[in-house]
Amino acid sequence: MNDEQLIAAARAAALKAYAPYSNFSVGCAILSVDGEVVTGANMENACYRLGVCAEISALTAAQAAFGLDKIARIAVAGGDGSGEDLAGASSVTPCGGCRQSILEAAQLSSRDVEILCGSGDGTKVERHCINALIPHGFGPAALADAAPVDLQA
Ligand code: THU
Repeated sequence: MNDEQLIAAARAAALKAYAPYSNFSVGCAILSVDGEVVTGANMENACYRLGVCAEISALTAAQAAFGLDKIARIAVAGGDGSGEDLAGASSVTPCGGCRQSILEAAQLSSRDVEILCGSGDGTKVERHCINALIPHGFGPAALADAAPVDLQA
């Protein structure tokens, strides 16, 4: 799948968003190193803080389908999902929490995963690698100095 197709998959996924509180629909498509694609959309909740971002939804699908260590590339797009096509002129970059989760996945494979950040209307795409989106990130290696964890205690 090429980049345009991955962005198209993210835009299509956004139309499945459940976003009655923000009216902002986000879709995410994740391509595996073997060419498999999974998607996700944001899912909001009346208890606002329980909302789930599109990237987390797609990462969960990727974990189940092919494993977090097999992620090759990610596309995100968001905007107004009330019409037949996703609309909106600004490209969407992953929020801070999603960057942290993408970083964790990227570090499993030592790949600097590229993220295609698309506008709702599909006219704009920014490309960023996860290490640039979250420099000096807190990853698994940062826990090296922890005392041993005793699960029986
Ligand atoms: N949202 C995402 O799904 N991903 C992001 O990276 C940014 C924000 C969602 C969360 C919420 O449902 C809506 O967009 C407005 O913040």
